[in-house]
Amino acid sequence: MTFGRYPAGGLAFPHRDLLGIAQLERHEILYLLDEAEPWVDLNRQPSKHSDTLAGLTIINAFFENSTRTLLSFEIAGKRLGADVVNMHAAQSSVKKGETLIDTAITLNAMRADAIVIRHGSSGAVDLIASKVDCPVLNAGDGSHEHPTQALLDALALRHALRERGEAAEDFTGLVITICGDILHSRVARSNILCLQALGASVRLCAPPALMPAGVETIGAEPFHDFDAALEGADVVMMLRLQNERMQGQFIPSAREYHHLYGLTLERLKRAAPDALVMHPGPMNRGVEIDSEVADMLDRSIITRQVEMGVAIRMSCLDILTRRTRGVEGWT
Ligand code: NCD
Repeated sequence: MTFGRYPAGGLAFPHRDLLGIAQLERHEILYLLDEAEPWVDLNRQPSKHSDTLAGLTIINAFFENSTRTLLSFEIAGKRLGADVVNMHAAQSSVKKGETLIDTAITLNAMRADAIVIRHGSSGAVDLIASKVDCPVLNAGDGSHEHPTQALLDALALRHALRERGEAAEDFTGLVITICGDILHSRVARSNILCLQALGASVRLCAPPALMPAGVETIGAEPFHDFDAALEGADVVMMLRLQNERMQGQFIPSAREYHHLYGLTLERLKRAAPDALVMHPGPMNRGVEIDSEVADMLDRSIITRQVEMGVAIRMSCLDILTRRTRGVEGWT
């Protein structure tokens, strides 16, 4: 296999780490998506094993709760043939007062070949990356970034559009409405950057208290009226209220929130007739999204997002370890 130097002789993916979408160029995002395609195919076979990362050790260090992200990074590493070890902060020396930097130095001394980190503080993953010698992948840091989520969302959307015969290299011309707790959402931040890099127009909808200031400066269109934000949208991405990041009361009640910002079947009619529905999970059914919308077979791509999560993480782990593995063209 040859690895194209792209574009103009540069490496297709010149970064050691995957810390955020903010550091990526459009062609690098597309490269990560394109390289996930063979893994999508492999993951649909009965036998899903590859030896690509045989002999390598991957540590998943999760300092915050996770179901989808941790499991899919673990499955991704194992399907690539790596030895995968999960470190749960609740059972680690973090509880004994060890600093983040000492934890990073400890993981580094064990000679991991890639470290995947989720942490509750924005910037914690960048800090660890500066202290270790191997590639670091951000699995979500505070309210900052969650790059693999945005990449898997883009891959899921690309597949759904392709199946409808709307194949396009990118999302130029698509209107995508992201609604929910934008203020605390790393998923929203990474998705805004990723979707815009791929040509989409992004509308953001939240109650005033959950909308970050100055979103217009990054080219997103802010709304407080969900009906207006939905008008003619091609894709609707719903987000959970991140209660764990809220200090104090941001919304009057879940009932009131659902009334104004919950995605119901009735409300979805305002979007384009075949608009797709997305959610990164975990969902709070009956709060930000109704079950009859979340479970729509022809419109909801929520389970496809989960499927694409494994493939995109395989793509990221493969690409980021190519230098270590001495792959031709990457050393
Ligand atoms: C998101 C997260 O952890 O940021 N979930 C995920 O990774 N699938 C969103 C959330 O927790 O609401």
